[in-house]
Amino acid sequence: MEIKKVGVVGAGTMGNGIAHGFARGGFDVVLCDVEERFLGRALGTIAKNLDREVAKNRITAGDKAAALARIRPVTERGQLAECDFVIEAATEKFEVKTEIFRDLDRVTRPEIILASNTSSISITKLAALTARPEKVIGMHFFNPVPVMKLVEVIRGLATSQDTFLAVRDLSVQLEKTPVEVNDAPGFVSNRVLMPLLNEAMYTVMEGVATAEAVDEVFKLGMNHPMGPLTLADFIGLDVCLDIMRVLQGGLGDPKYRPCPLLIKMVDAGWLGRKSGRGFYTY
Ligand code: CAA
Repeated sequence: MEIKKVGVVGAGTMGNGIAHGFARGGFDVVLCDVEERFLGRALGTIAKNLDREVAKNRITAGDKAAALARIRPVTERGQLAECDFVIEAATEKFEVKTEIFRDLDRVTRPEIILASNTSSISITKLAALTARPEKVIGMHFFNPVPVMKLVEVIRGLATSQDTFLAVRDLSVQLEKTPVEVNDAPGFVSNRVLMPLLNEAMYTVMEGVATAEAVDEVFKLGMNHPMGPLTLADFIGLDVCLDIMRVLQGGLGDPKYRPCPLLIKMVDAGWLGRKSGRGFYTY
């Protein structure tokens, strides 16, 4: 089946980047979130990020206008009925995704693929919530979506080869590089990245070094574009904590326990860049 119209559920940081990518790639996009104000904010962000591409002469002002015109913001999930593919990019909580996947299975055509942009939750479990587990897959983008080339394509236990191939091809159409991964807590990206960020937080908590010093070590010593604490602030400390909890629960090894400083900062509402305060002040 040719995919022309794509549904994106969730208009936050990842959802708006994904909608941007599809619209820029020529797909019609139905962008769905629970409140108008989240949709308004997402469209503002997409326009701003398309402006970066206009400023670099990668696209014209006309391309930007056409991409924006291809995005239809909606608050009713029923509007996804006409989509040929739907990707979920909601909050990283299993209860939230459970409700969404059950609903998507009901409102969308039974033959379409349902993907999740989850960064750590089991694709196999999400698939089992639906009557089409062979058509459920992980399609994990990276922030900032318009810039980062990787899509981690995650096969759940029941995901069919046709579903995998369709999502691999879709990633290529978006000018991304798909990498195939099997379902396991945190997949590859966050299984390896989050313990690094978590350990960096322990070094700050234990007074081994300041956040600035830890970040300098990684920027200058390992050529990382951002140090681990800047990156944690960029991803969102709440998201980091959610992912550590998935690793801890799913893998059971105490080495995945979240750093107490991370827990405390999330409790304080210090969520990183998006809240104005994290390891740094914005
Ligand atoms: N949205 C869109 N484009 C953006 C952007 C944004 N928020 N921020 C920067 N850009 C673009 C710029 O326009 C610029 O484009 P070109 O290179 O094409 O000209 C490019 O990114 C570089 O921008 P800058 O020169 O202004 O800034 P920089 O050199 O400091 O790079 C960065 C910014 C790309 C974010 C870089 O710091 C970086 O790669 N950081 C690491 C990001 C990373 O690790 N992301 C993965 C997070 S993990 C995740 O997402 C998954 C998960 O499950 C948690």
